[in-house]
Amino acid sequence: MTSAILLLLLGPPKAPAFRPLAYFEDKCARCHGSMGSNYGDEFGKDLTDAKLVTVVRDMASGPAQAPVSEVDLRPLVAFHRSLILGKPFGIVVEVVGATVRGETTPGSKVSLRWGKVVSVAKVDGSAWSAIIPKGKTLSGAELVLSLKGATVVQALDSRRYTDWVPSKK
Ligand code: HEC
Repeated sequence: MTSAILLLLLGPPKAPAFRPLAYFEDKCARCHGSMGSNYGDEFGKDLTDAKLVTVVRDMASGPAQAPVSEVDLRPLVAFHRSLILGKPFGIVVEVVGATVRGETTPGSKVSLRWGKVVSVAKVDGSAWSAIIPKGKTLSGAELVLSLKGATVVQALDSRRYTDWVPSKK
């Protein structure tokens, strides 16, 4: 079969989903430590949201030599804000059938929640996966993360990662 026909059948290859933590480990950790462990205790004291966006964007295209799109920049910045606030970060990366996969700050407990219905995720390092129960949808779920006594709840109808600025629908 020619590749033209294959392309017709399968459609153009999809760009792989952006994984901010895998990206950080790959492109930033050699200078800033695994999961930002070298940023230090004073990190972020003088970083407003606007400054944080600018420095992360500049670092990505500068020393990391791995520019990110403005869409991908947002969860990467949110991960940095989570480090500054000492809260767990979480993101949904892909959904295949009923299986949801994502990333989180290592050590976090992760679950998907629909009121009293909870699907506890398996966590392996910074990767997690969970099953959507029958009759439920991902956009109706909340992503619930806890790490060292800090709990973060993110409704997944508006955004697929934890953040602390109001979402723009
Ligand atoms: C080659 C080493 C190097 C790499 C790779 C690198 N950085 Fe940096 N980064 C630095 C240095 C040095 C500074 C401090 C001086 C400055 O601000 O330019 C810094 C500063 C920062 C700051 C501000 C820290 C503070 O305390 O205000 C952030 C945030 C940051 N980098 C994020 C990133 C991200 C995200 C990546 C990956 C996309 C990255 N850096 C890749 C060397 C690096």
